[in-house]
Amino acid sequence: MIKKILKWTGIVLGSVILLLCLAYFYVSHNIGQRMEKKYTFAPESLDVSQDQALLSRGKHLVAIKGCTDCHGTDLSGKVLVEDGALGRLVAANLTKGQGGLPANYTTTDWVKALRHGVDKNGQALLFMPSHETTLLSAQDMAAIIAYCQSVEPVNKPLPAIEVGPVVKVMAYLDKMPLFPVEKIDHGKPMVTQVDTVEGVAMGKYLAVACSGCHGNNLKGGDPVAPGYPPVPNITQAGHVGKWTQAQFIQTLRTGKTPEGKQLSNDNMPWKMTAQYTDKELASIYKYCQSIQ
Ligand code: HEC
Ligand code: HEC
Repeated sequence: MIKKILKWTGIVLGSVILLLCLAYFYVSHNIGQRMEKKYTFAPESLDVSQDQALLSRGKHLVAIKGCTDCHGTDLSGKVLVEDGALGRLVAANLTKGQGGLPANYTTTDWVKALRHGVDKNGQALLFMPSHETTLLSAQDMAAIIAYCQSVEPVNKPLPAIEVGPVVKVMAYLDKMPLFPVEKIDHGKPMVTQVDTVEGVAMGKYLAVACSGCHGNNLKGGDPVAPGYPPVPNITQAGHVGKWTQAQFIQTLRTGKTPEGKQLSNDNMPWKMTAQYTDKELASIYKYCQSIQ
């Protein structure tokens, strides 16, 4: 009797493991094909003049859009994560130094990356939030490109990206934005210039940088990755609804909420939000408050 039960348990367990292996093999193959896929888009350029106003606007944008969080303050790139389950995620060296962008990386290539989410060869950029940068106005995108092209070259060769099993499965289930290229409406024309008056419209434009974690409607949700806290609702319905504009600005500058909670920069990038101007934060506040 016992022998029979053991035998059947063995068969059932064995079949489950076999099925899981087949499922993983399928997922892995699917992700591999999406990584290899080549996209073509009509080449586009932007007028990227190196004038001082554009460069300083670019520098500000690179800080508030989180480019420096991932690519480093000097834009020389870095290994973001390295672990057996997640793999190795590497943000590229964006300078012209060794290991950086090739000498023939043109403004058109920059636009391809920021607007369409693909590299020079047309292959998907992994984890690079191009689904957010694609919403930049042409003017802001030009400012970012001008600034990035102007930084000092840094020699820093980086290891290649390796997508680990957990990331493959999460990307397959659409729980992680591994392929921003797939999320972009590529036919949508770029907005030339955006509202620069403090208010809801400007806030909505800027809050694209929050939506990756807080969700498109800013109502929060599940943790962005295993091991992170749930993401709070930052509309009227959440704590933010009870805060004054000054308290909101104070929170995004110091990471300390009016309820006395110190937010960790690893979970909520307040060192990035600290760099927004008062006008920008006031606009984001107004936008958050406008969402029922
Ligand atoms: C969440 C982290 C993250 C943020 C934020 C981020 N990047 Fe990236 N970026 C990456 C990663 C990772 C790659 C490498 C993608 C690859 O090689 O598949 C990358 C690649 C790039 C590339 C393509 C380089 C190439 O080899 O073609 C450019 C250009 C770029 N980023 C510019 C920017 C700019 C400008 C910003 C800010 C507006 C920015 N990135 C914000 C993670 C990030
Ligand atoms: C990388 C993901 C990420 C991004 C990007 C991000 N947040 Fe957060 N934010 C979080 C997480 C996670 C928390 C909760 C942290 C905790 O509980 O410790 C949080 C907390 C907050 C809080 C505190 C809310 C409360 O109820 O106490 C505010 C306000 C906030 N974020 C605003 C913003 C704004 C505005 C932006 C864009 C300019 C932004 N966040 C961008 C992940 C993010």
